[in-house]
Amino acid sequence: MPISARRLLILVAVLLVLLMGFIATSSNRESGDGPVASTELSEADLIARGEYLVVAGNCASCHTLGNGDYMAGGVAFETPFGTIYSTNITPDPEVGIGSWTDWDFLNSMRHGERPNGEHLYPAFPYPAFTKVTNEDLAAMFAYLQSLPASNYLPPENILAFPYNQRFLMAFWKIFFFDSGVFENNFDQSEQWNRGAYLVEALAHCSACHTPRNFLGAEHEHLFMAGGEYLDRVRSGEYKTWVAPNLTSSSRGLGLWSHQQLSDYLKTARNEFIESFGPMNEVIMNSTRFLSQSDVDSMAVYLKSLPEVPEAAPFTPDSQLMGNGRTIYNLHCGTCHLPTGEGDPEMAPRLNAGSLVVQADNPASMINAILYGPELPGTPLTPRWLDPMGEFQYILSDEEVAAVASFIRNSWDNAAGLVTPEQVAAQR
Ligand code: HEC
Ligand code: HEC
Ligand code: HEC
Repeated sequence: MPISARRLLILVAVLLVLLMGFIATSSNRESGDGPVASTELSEADLIARGEYLVVAGNCASCHTLGNGDYMAGGVAFETPFGTIYSTNITPDPEVGIGSWTDWDFLNSMRHGERPNGEHLYPAFPYPAFTKVTNEDLAAMFAYLQSLPASNYLPPENILAFPYNQRFLMAFWKIFFFDSGVFENNFDQSEQWNRGAYLVEALAHCSACHTPRNFLGAEHEHLFMAGGEYLDRVRSGEYKTWVAPNLTSSSRGLGLWSHQQLSDYLKTARNEFIESFGPMNEVIMNSTRFLSQSDVDSMAVYLKSLPEVPEAAPFTPDSQLMGNGRTIYNLHCGTCHLPTGEGDPEMAPRLNAGSLVVQADNPASMINAILYGPELPGTPLTPRWLDPMGEFQYILSDEEVAAVASFIRNSWDNAAGLVTPEQVAAQR
């Protein structure tokens, strides 16, 4: 019997709807008869190990409000799709994860799935945490369950349609998410593998340092080549930040030695610069508490990342360079010195070694100039005599563009032009 074109269309449509329903309700949840991992550690040792791993994963920066209960959530994340709030991960049985089993915890971290089957948003960096081993997940869960319970209920997410439909994340996951534990690379040393595990699975550096596509997924072929996202500037407002290129590009981590990188992650300073802005939380809440050997492993792995070069920069003309030099000598040179070499008591050098100055997209450098670089604060002993001011009140968009272009193309820097439009976008 011949099928009419209309009937065929209806048949295809019905099959498509069935397929969509199947995908939307499909699940990768894992479960087992026994615990997630067996251990010979005592309860106290397991909890201590879990605490170290939770610090390495920097859960607290995202799950603890400045004045809130530890790990009770409520921290807002501004994304292109709306505002997402972190959840309460204390052992409260109602609003936290007190009623969860270790398998429930594994499924959230490895598959981005809640016990009721709902999909989680990747603002929670499970695309990195999926690589954490079962043994480490068991320890982290034991530590989280040992914390004081908080009954704080975080606000509801504010997402526009269709992003507020969690079931649609099932499709996102098919295209952009591979779950699975970290696998050792046997061509590399044990130290390299330890560093790769810490960076990729726990520290989730790539969540900020890898560019994302229009649906918020990381571009795998541009791993660690520099990302863009919204975060707070010193005034508390959300602005675009650029997390610079951490591959061995001559404008990225190629600028730093192993020692300079491990100093930065362990102490928030090195001979070039001091941490400011979003890296403060990464270093002050996480990497500085890691053992020296773990920080060294991370540096070994990071320094091995193959170069992803920046696009060739546009060089500014001599008139713009001249204007920039005049503004620099008037407003910046007193602290950063006319040679850009910096001063041990006044300001870091800008003539070499700043990934932020060299980044293709100047957003983070402009934030530092407009709002002043936010310092890490206690317990780090102050290093500079005077903080840098907020040039948003002193310089116009044209002037900031000129001085930034001058710095980016002077001394050992070759990073391209900054336009007044780029400055205006950061105001
Ligand atoms: C970059 C910020 C960020 C970091 C780092 C982070 N989380 Fe989250 N987490 C979130 C957000 C946001 C959500 C809510 C996601 C959603 O609503 O779909 C979340 C959700 C969760 C959930 C699901 C809770 C539920 O009720 O379904 C768990 C479990 C969790 N996080 C544990 C952790 C642990 C453990 C760590 C550290 C290893 C961690 N998170 C680190 C932002 C973060
Ligand atoms: C929450 C987002 C975020 C995470 C996570 C993150 N970074 Fe960054 N990183 C940034 C931003 C933004 C900048 C530029 C502004 C600044 O330095 O704070 C930056 C700057 C840097 C710099 C250059 C500093 C300079 O002044 O030249 C290095 C090196 C770096 N990050 C390494 C790391 C490593 C290693 C990790 C993982 C352990 C990591 N980052 C995790 C956002 C992040
Ligand atoms: C009062 C002294 C002072 C003046 C004046 C000053 N700065 Fe700074 N600047 C600092 C200090 C201190 C820091 C380092 C903050 C930190 O410890 O992270 C800094 C950091 C920076 C950074 C970030 C460097 C990095 O780590 O990548 C840039 C860019 C910068 N200044 C540009 C300028 C420009 C442009 C001007 C003039 C318009 C200027 N500064 C004027 C003191 C000053």
